[in-house]
Amino acid sequence: MEELKGLILSGGKGTRLQPITFTSAKQLVPVANRPVLFYGIDAMVEAGITEIGIIIAPETGSEIREVVGDGSQFGASVTFIEQDRPAGLAHAVLTAEPFLADSPFVMYLGDNLLQGGISELVDAFRANSPDALILLTQVADPEHYGVAELEGDRVVSLQEKPPEPKTDLALVGVYMFTAAVHDAARAIEPSARGELEITDAIQNLVDSGHRVEPHIVKGWWKDTGRLEDMLEANRLVLDATERRIDGEVTDSTCEGIVVIESGAVVERSTVTGPAVIGAGARITDAYIGPYSAIGERCVVDRSEVENSILLEGSSLTGVGARVEASLLGRNAAVSRKEGGAPSYRLLIGDESDIEVI
Ligand code: TTP
Repeated sequence: MEELKGLILSGGKGTRLQPITFTSAKQLVPVANRPVLFYGIDAMVEAGITEIGIIIAPETGSEIREVVGDGSQFGASVTFIEQDRPAGLAHAVLTAEPFLADSPFVMYLGDNLLQGGISELVDAFRANSPDALILLTQVADPEHYGVAELEGDRVVSLQEKPPEPKTDLALVGVYMFTAAVHDAARAIEPSARGELEITDAIQNLVDSGHRVEPHIVKGWWKDTGRLEDMLEANRLVLDATERRIDGEVTDSTCEGIVVIESGAVVERSTVTGPAVIGAGARITDAYIGPYSAIGERCVVDRSEVENSILLEGSSLTGVGARVEASLLGRNAAVSRKEGGAPSYRLLIGDESDIEVI
């Protein structure tokens, strides 16, 4: 088989993660302090795929270019492909056609995480040489996903978010295609939501007699498009981390899987893992609870935080109650003024979501 290329989709609107996505790409939100996109690039390289195209949006593309660079930090060669508008996953494939040319390729949604990577899938694709191979997993709420119907080892139909799903097999955000997908993507019309759907392109492949095979995922899979999913991905990755303390820890206890990067300072605090604390962060008189990912240069002072993601430079200072299941954007600050009457003073962006419990 011809050399496989990789295509990672990192454009899109990211409406479900506003307001974070007003100023930044959702694929750069960190999971255990690494941009979620990096896990997809790693998975490709691990499977031996080093020629990778990354779809970017005009608004957030430059930030992704900067962070990923030429791909050499991953052992890959990365080409950036700008999609002029978020017109759907099949539209992204067509946008990448000049890069992909006749090559078979793996398509990976840039905000997805797949335990165990994609090597097994790539091997199955190489061994069986189908025209396309899709990844499926059983879910409790198939009406929220692309859903597949199978006959033996063939996919016979696909529906995008069907109100009455025929099976509980949801499409996972990783696909393998031959160049036949380009004609299929050209043949379809935009859906009711105005997007060229990849499910319709795959259905077109099936209808035109191409062989589309299913592959059932064994490990966990997470689409991090919403806050709850992002926090769960963070928990899953932190669970698989190893304890490492390189920073400076004074008069503090660190229990369980705790990573403290060099240059971080922890004083008079309790850190209960799994948790990571990024380089240059300062944790003083604080409690960092399980499943917290504290980014570079964050400050947590006289505050408690648990099951949350703090992006670089954000801070919690003297906050009276424990901060839970939260996501703080870059340089966001939450503080409490000493001595005043209990009150809230807020400067928050459009679509922010704050719950006082
Ligand atoms: P989605 O999460 O399905 O779409 P979205 O990014 O527009 O998010 P939301 O529904 O919250 O508005 O997209 C899956 C992945 O594919 C994600 O990494 C963004 C990317 N994508 C593109 O690159 N181009 C596109 O046209 C679309 C729709 C998504």
